[in-house]
Amino acid sequence: MPACKAFTWGKGVPDALKLSGVRAGYGATVVLEDVDFSLAEQGSLAVLGRNGVGKTTLLATIMGLTTFQAGRIEYAGKTIERLEVHERARLGIGYVPQTRDIFPSLSVEENLLVAARPGRWSRDRVFDLFPRLAERRSHMGNQISGGEQQMLSIGRALMGDPALLLLDEPLEGLAPIIVDSLLAAIQRLTQVESLTVVLVEQSARLALEMTQEALVLNRGRITHRGASSELLADPKLLSSLIVSG
Ligand SMILES: Nc1ncnc2c1ncn2[C@@H]1O[C@H](COP(=O)(O)OP(=O)(O)OP(=O)(O)O)[C@@H](O)[C@H]1O
Ligand SMILES: [Mg+2]
Repeated sequence: MPACKAFTWGKGVPDALKLSGVRAGYGATVVLEDVDFSLAEQGSLAVLGRNGVGKTTLLATIMGLTTFQAGRIEYAGKTIERLEVHERARLGIGYVPQTRDIFPSLSVEENLLVAARPGRWSRDRVFDLFPRLAERRSHMGNQISGGEQQMLSIGRALMGDPALLLLDEPLEGLAPIIVDSLLAAIQRLTQVESLTVVLVEQSARLALEMTQEALVLNRGRITHRGASSELLADPKLLSSLIVSG
């Protein structure tokens, strides 16, 4: 059972993740400022915004890959902003980076096995989620398509048995048929596997359809927070939030 199941914040509403007054960036450069939000256990959150507003930096900050300057990050009832990346991973945070980061000279199967930790996921369960990976199991990481690399990157994160999965533009640059199978897999992760998901996505409509809640970033600050269905129903608001400089 994931660690976060055991924890309930104050009033009986279990939060998996909570950021308070977060300021972070790279060295002395501040990218994120005053970032506050919380996400319930088994919740799903879309992170929207134009290029360069700080979406990747937000996920990387939760994972511990940026320079943390102020504020607090809580995960499953623990304060984690000073923990090392591997410690956060061990607590149940999985990260699928925008760059995918497949090992090019390892096979598909080896890419999965190097990430294995005891838990709910095995190579065979990843192959069940992504049958294309089973077909390509002996291919090297650099011999598979972009869509297959994305599946492998998600599969590798799952092998670490996360309760919270951070997905950075998993649909970027992929053909519609691959997008559909990735969307189905992500849906299975949230609805059947009960994962908590933060989904960064350029395609606002797709991201909003996949999630319960959304936030919009602009220049490193949150400019909107609400139900995904509200934003989906209000295209004018959505485009004003995402295009406004
Ligand atoms: N390693 C880095 N060192 C310094 N600045 C960086 C670094 N990575 C990103 N930045 C800067 O931080 C800001 C936010 O970048 P980030 O990659 O988080 O944006 P993003 O919203 O994910 O963009 P995209 O939609 O293009 O992926 C940008 O101004 C970018 O130039
Ligand atoms: Mg990015």
